Amino acid sequence: MKIEPMINSDSAIALLCCPTCGGDLRALNDSSGSAEALHCTSCQSHYPINDNIIDFVPDFQPSEGLAQRFMESPLVVDVYESFFRPAFTSLGSTIKYQDEDQWLDALDNQHGLTQVDVVLDLAAGTGRYSRKMIDRYQPKTLIAADLSMPMLKKHQEISKGLGYDEMLYIRADAHHLPIKSAVVNRLNCFGALHLFPAPAQAIKELGRVAADTAVLSCLIACEHQSPIKKRLQAAFSQLASFHFFQRDVLQEDLENAGFKQFENMQKQMLMMFSAVKPTNSDN
Ligand SMILES: C[S@@+](CC[C@H](N)C(=O)[O-])C[C@H]1O[C@@H](n2cnc3c(N)ncnc32)[C@H](O)[C@@H]1O
Repeated sequence: MKIEPMINSDSAIALLCCPTCGGDLRALNDSSGSAEALHCTSCQSHYPINDNIIDFVPDFQPSEGLAQRFMESPLVVDVYESFFRPAFTSLGSTIKYQDEDQWLDALDNQHGLTQVDVVLDLAAGTGRYSRKMIDRYQPKTLIAADLSMPMLKKHQEISKGLGYDEMLYIRADAHHLPIKSAVVNRLNCFGALHLFPAPAQAIKELGRVAADTAVLSCLIACEHQSPIKKRLQAAFSQLASFHFFQRDVLQEDLENAGFKQFENMQKQMLMMFSAVKPTNSDN
């Protein structure tokens, strides 16, 4: 049976909106009836679809930060999941893939998460967490979002190779998500908030798209307790456009974005944290 790409699913596209003006999007089809672009019905912005990836930032130039230049490099992307990610993580913490998976298992148990309708994997990279969340939640729609086209292409190649056909791939900027408000039931953003130029704005966007009771999970770089290491972190931040979070500032950013129940586990320079978007009646 041929599985239709998610870009041809009206219900998946209905979750999206124009990142420029928030307007509704209409699919423009090619002669075979497959979507080749999305068009904003309000501001007329045009978003091309290449290789089943909707490009919401067609004019983005990756030249701005050193860290993002790495994330766009085909050499890094090719060995990202097997080598680069574990090696880079080990520079800052003893947390390994296995610890992350155990922490995510515990989070599911704590919140009784089994089936979930709409999942967002923000800064999905090559898709390790997108695939895990499909296994965990069998969502109707999993939105895999990332700024790097090479990462998204590799994500698609690996995921399709492993039999995961049912994802909606979007190239998007975390600071202006092309997703309607209050439609996502589970949000994940691992290994990425510290790379964003304005993390508080990205957290605000996560809060905007989160539906009531949605659970957010993140893995981030955070400030070390030792003053010497703090100074080294400050120098690295300058060099590589990299942010080390302070716990209390992070908690405030989450609260400003409408999240509650902040819980975290820190080992050296890495922290995994969760937060919940409360229902209106909990406020
Ligand atoms: C270190 S990787 C993390 C990938 C994956 N989540 C993981 O934990 O292995 C960081 C990802 O963030 C993406 N990224 C960086 N800035 C972004 C932005 N402004 N909006 C969306 N994604 C961004 C990069 O392209 C990269 O794929």
